[in-house]
Formats: sequence, structure tokens, C-alpha cells
Amino acid sequence: MLDTGSFEEFDMFVQHRCDDFGMEKSKVPGDGVITGWGTVNGRTVCVFAKDFTVFGGSLSEAHAQKMVKIQELALRVRAPIVGLFDAGGARIQEGVAALGGYGEVFKRNVIASGVVPQISVIMGPCAGGDVYSPAMTDFIFMVRGSSYMFVTGPEVVKTVTNETVTSEELGGAQVHITKSSVADGAFENDVECLLQIRRLLDFLPSNNRDGVPMWPSFDDPARIDYSLDTIVPDNPNKPYDMKELILKVVDESDFFEIQANFARNIVTGFGRIEGRTVGIVANQPMVLAGVLDADASRKAARFVRFCDAFEIPIVTFVDVPGFLPGTAQEYGGLIKHGAKLLFAFTQATVPLVTVITRKAFGGAYDVMSSKHIGTDVNYAWPSAQIAVMGAKGAVEIIFRQDMDDPEKIAKRTEEYEQRFLSPFVAAERGYIDEVIMPHATRHRVARALAMLRTKKLEQPPKKHDNLPL
Ligand code: HXC
Repeated sequence: MLDTGSFEEFDMFVQHRCDDFGMEKSKVPGDGVITGWGTVNGRTVCVFAKDFTVFGGSLSEAHAQKMVKIQELALRVRAPIVGLFDAGGARIQEGVAALGGYGEVFKRNVIASGVVPQISVIMGPCAGGDVYSPAMTDFIFMVRGSSYMFVTGPEVVKTVTNETVTSEELGGAQVHITKSSVADGAFENDVECLLQIRRLLDFLPSNNRDGVPMWPSFDDPARIDYSLDTIVPDNPNKPYDMKELILKVVDESDFFEIQANFARNIVTGFGRIEGRTVGIVANQPMVLAGVLDADASRKAARFVRFCDAFEIPIVTFVDVPGFLPGTAQEYGGLIKHGAKLLFAFTQATVPLVTVITRKAFGGAYDVMSSKHIGTDVNYAWPSAQIAVMGAKGAVEIIFRQDMDDPEKIAKRTEEYEQRFLSPFVAAERGYIDEVIMPHATRHRVARALAMLRTKKLEQPPKKHDNLPL
């Protein structure tokens, strides 16, 4: 994963100090974890890698001290920390000494949260502390077919619940990228996974103070793309692929998607504009018409908070028909999960640029980085429709008394469409700063971000907020 020849190992002679259960006879230098630091494309990264061949990579007191040393080094030099996990949690033979060791690691995970990026890569079977420590980090990636994450493995599950499951069914990559959303992505094999972690690191700032890295870009920020003028279909009920739009806007079509397989009705990930990282949040009309549901809100909220913590500007593309109605959503806490996204965008102090491409209906209009909650630059395409709801639904409610007169209803629907289903009512009030042509989107977004580089905004001092969890 590191640049060739850049790895410097720490503590390779450390051994465990346990004499119980015959452990005094099995001391292994390094004690199941390799720690140190190196570089990725020249930038410092602190690393630890669990060695499953030594007591299943399990964590002893000494093993924990090695991890803590690297966590503290990462904090001191303000460099990202990457953990490669392949381990069975606290070392059973050491009892509370191992549990205490994990406690020390968890504490550093929390102290480092929001200070340096923490990335966990799951590369084998992982249980106990070796899933809980990753859970406290910013990103978790897995390898398909060879990595598993569970609090307790299939054998314990069988004993306690009488449920028979395989490791794959209980905690394989597919489960965690599509169902639980514990993992942010999965790759085909170890090599591909490590190469992608290098790619991700290239997008991330080293810490919360230094700002985003800048890489040479050969893509003209003023590049015009006329194909964007026809990407939105005339029929408002027809979908189009928001990812195509994103790829056309970012530098060299390079987009690193986060949680690509979970809540696919919203797209989150990193791209670059003028060589500098931006976080992208975008409704995806191809999946559930881009509606906001509990999962999509939670996914995007976490992403927005990561970007804000690490000073990564956010560009939001909006095409959202509203929040998803229904008992499943309400019982699942849609109100609270939707509030997370509203909270996250409202709280963000990084540069925020929004482009409404088509629908921005109801509460979802407010939530999706609208002017009202603090977004700096709000653009809309001429195809934008900003309203409380679509014309049909609106007329059915406000002209209910005319429902048996189809002619009247058709006229009312047309009136509503003309009045609200355009960006101009919002633009008249200054809620949209400008209606822009789709082909100029990259150019306009790049200019807005360049202007916003000097943005300074501070929220009133507080201990911390009370995000609706
Ligand atoms: C000591 C361990 C170990 C552990 C595995 N080994 N986990 N030794 N402590 N926690 C050893 C095994 O004894 C075995 O040794 C070798 O590692 C390989 O393990 P296998 O079981 O043969 O491998 P596999 O079938 O691939 O299963 C991997 C596994 C399983 C799923 C990780 O080993 C497992 O369930 N381990 C226990 C997990 C667990 O309950 N950990 C404690 C969690 S408490 P030999 O000598 O036979 O090769 C915890 C506290 C954190 O972590 C607090 C959280 C909030």
C-alpha cells in the first residue's frame, strides 16, 4: 500500500507478557501486529497491519501498546492512519489486560476522529474489538470473499440463537455494503483493495487543518460540455443517470464513490475541481426516482459531516421528488434520519455549492443544501422545478372541490406548473443565485469554489452539538 521503500517499522521486537494458559512458551516478536509509517505518493501515512498467523491477530496488552503508539504518532504529526485488519479481537488468554488494551485503542480512535482521517481495511475474518475499532473510524473497506466482520462469529450465533449462518451470510462484504452499511465499499481482491486505498488517500487532506491536497490537473476548469444540455429528459418522470453528470463535471472524470451499493438513491463521493478535492452529494433519479429515505439521509449526513470536519468543500446536485412516504419509513425513524442530513448541511461551514438540475420538492428542497440553511452559491438549471410538490399532487389537494371537472383540473395543473415548476419563482426571491446553462456547470462550479476558498464562518462556541442520532 505504501510507496516502495518508504515503510519504517516500529516495535518489531515487542512480545506479549502473558504467562497464563501456556502462553509463556509462545512469544512471537512483533506479537501479531506490524506497525510503522511510510508514504503514499509522498504524503506521510501511519499504518498498522494485523498478522492473523500470530494468535489469529488477536490483541494482547503489548499489541495494544504498539497500536496506541502509532495512533499517537499519527495525531502528533497530523497524518492519516490506515489499519489493515485480519484478527479475532481481544486475546482471550489475556482476559482483562486485552480488554483494557482495546479500550485504550478505542479512546485514541475517538480523540483522532475529526483530526486525522482514519481508514480501516478489513482483509480477513474480524471479530470483537477488530470490528469495533474500525466502526469508530471514518471509512471501512472490505475484500470480497475473504473478509468478514461480526461482533460474534457463526459458532456463537448458533449457540445463542440456534441460527445457522455462514461467515459470508453473517458478515461478508456483500452484507456490509448493501444491508448493514457498516462498510463503505468492497473490492475484488487484496491488491485491488490496497490500490484503491492509495487512490482514496490522494483525495483526502492529511488532517483537519491543512486543507485538501492539490494535484496537477490537465482538465480545463472552464471546459464546456454541451451533452449536459440534453441529459435531463423532457418527461419529468423519466430518469437519467446522475453519475454521468458527476463524471462530466469533475476533473478527468475521476470520482471515488463512498457507499456505492447502499441507499443508491443518493450518490456520495470525492472528485476534484481544479486539482482540489470536493465532496459530491447528489440525488440519483435512476433509483427510487432519487427520493430521500432514512438510509439515504443517514448515508449522506455522515458523508457531509466527514467533509465538513476535514475542510472539504461540498458540491450538491439536486433532483429530489421529496421524502419517501409510508409506514416502513415512518416506523424506521425517517423523521430522525432525515433530520440528520438537514442538521449536517446546516452545520457545515465549508464552502457549499448547490446545483438544482430538476426537481427540488418539499422538505427535501430545504434539506438538500438550500440557500436558507447556509449554502453559499445556489445555481439552478432552466429545467429546475422548485415547489412544495409536483403539479398533480398539488392540484389534487388545493383544488379538491374541482376534481370531478377534468377540464378545470387540467387548467389548474397547467397554471401550477407555469407558476412553480421553474427555477424563476425561487430566483425572484434570491433563493437561487443564478439560473445557469447545464453545459457551463463545471465552469460555474469551479469559479464559485475558487471564490469561496477564503470562506471563513464560525458557529457559536459550544461543547458539541446534539445531532439527532
Ligand atoms: C486468542 C485467537 C483469537 C482470540 C482467534 N484466535 N481469535 N486467539 N484470542 N480472540 C486463534 C485461534 O485460537 C486459532 O489458533 C487461530 O487464532 C485462528 O483462528 P481460527 O478460529 O482457527 O480461524 P477462523 O476459523 O478463520 O475464525 C476466525 C475468527 C474466530 C472468526 C476470528 O477465531 C473467532 O471467532 N475468534 C474469537 C473471536 C472473539 O470472540 N474474540 C474476543 C472478542 S472480545 P490456533 O493455534 O488454533 O491456530 C473483544 C473485546 C472488544 O474483542 C470490545 C468490543 C466493544
